[in-house]
Amino acid sequence: MKSYDVELQDIVKDFDSGGAQIRAVDYVSVQIADGEFFALLGPSGCGKTTTLRLIAGFEQPTEGHILIRGRAMEGIPAYHRPVNTVFQDYALFPHLTVEQNIMFGLQMEGVNKREALKRAQDALEMVRLPDIGKRKPHQLSGGQQQRVALARALVKQPAVLLLDEPLGALDLKLRKSMQYELKALQRDVGITFIYVTHDQEEAITMADRIAVMNEGKMLQVGTPKEIYERPGTHFVADFIGETNFIPATLLKRENDGRGRVRLPDGSEICAALSDDLTTTSGAVTLAIRPERIGLASDVSAESATDRDLDILDAKLVDSQYIGTDTRYTLQIAEGTELVARVQNVDGRNSAAFDIGQTVKIFWHHSSTTVLDH
Ligand SMILES: Nc1ncnc2c1ncn2[C@@H]1O[C@H](COP(=O)(O)OP(=O)(O)OP(=O)(O)O)[C@@H](O)[C@H]1O
Ligand SMILES: [Mg+2]
Repeated sequence: MKSYDVELQDIVKDFDSGGAQIRAVDYVSVQIADGEFFALLGPSGCGKTTTLRLIAGFEQPTEGHILIRGRAMEGIPAYHRPVNTVFQDYALFPHLTVEQNIMFGLQMEGVNKREALKRAQDALEMVRLPDIGKRKPHQLSGGQQQRVALARALVKQPAVLLLDEPLGALDLKLRKSMQYELKALQRDVGITFIYVTHDQEEAITMADRIAVMNEGKMLQVGTPKEIYERPGTHFVADFIGETNFIPATLLKRENDGRGRVRLPDGSEICAALSDDLTTTSGAVTLAIRPERIGLASDVSAESATDRDLDILDAKLVDSQYIGTDTRYTLQIAEGTELVARVQNVDGRNSAAFDIGQTVKIFWHHSSTTVLDH
């Protein structure tokens, strides 16, 4: 039997809040592999921090079991679990030097000073700050402080590192470069990361797999590509990236994972069925990403006979130049508009169509996902 680094089995966490009960985590089950970069993604209040705190042992589950490296965590206090946590407000001790900050936890565990210093220096090396050990936290930039907090967590050589919005306090540019460094660091040291963020772009660029959470539930777990290209629900499609939602009618489910659907303009197209789809026929929602929609004044004979392509007429309502791309607002039926995003090549696209003009829009069958209404 394969053992996972972290395994959550039917975890529930209820909080008592002034008599009212809040379910912060609602039957979550997930298995996280050794060395995986696993992101917990979701809006504020969805239960991300609570999930981390349960794994860390700062909270006890109301129901369910947590296993770390195959070992049940019931009754195991936080300080005996092979995990370490980096919080958003990483709170370095201001009166201690960087080295002393990093050594502190080790010395509390009884590691002797010489050994603790050696390990602190190794940890600083790991976060690429070998020369700042003698400084105080206030003599560091925000990004450097963040890296010291990381070194402080890494120095204990945890099997699993839990990170709660670790880059939340940094400005955008620093955040981007830290994302890159953190990812490289994780790859180098091979520690399992469970990384909380509400920033979908951060999750997509950093994680091996993402769990999208809402209202205490893990709605979908998958690779960034799976989550982006094959969202299971309206919520997931909406939360990750930009999506067009079109009301549609499911006419027939095919055996190849596709279905025939009718659009509001009466046209019929083929589209991929989401894995989570429960509707067998009737009202559904079609999701399609703006960058998957092509636009032309007319379609070539070759495209017209491509059986995997859906081609529709649309009225161009608006076009907006946004530098790299042009955003087109298109009406496919009374009250149904779509946004298409087309990359600007030599600045040509933005001038290619007139507002009010009827154009052909097209996409690949596999670019659309049929979701429950
Ligand atoms: N100690 C507590 N007592 C009562 N309710 C709590 C407690 N901790 C969290 N909650 C509630 O549980 C829910 C989940 O909170 P949690 O902190 O896990 O959310 P989050 O996803 O981390 O949100 P954010 O992105 O804002 O940090 C919220 O409704 C929150 O108010
Ligand atoms: Mg939180």
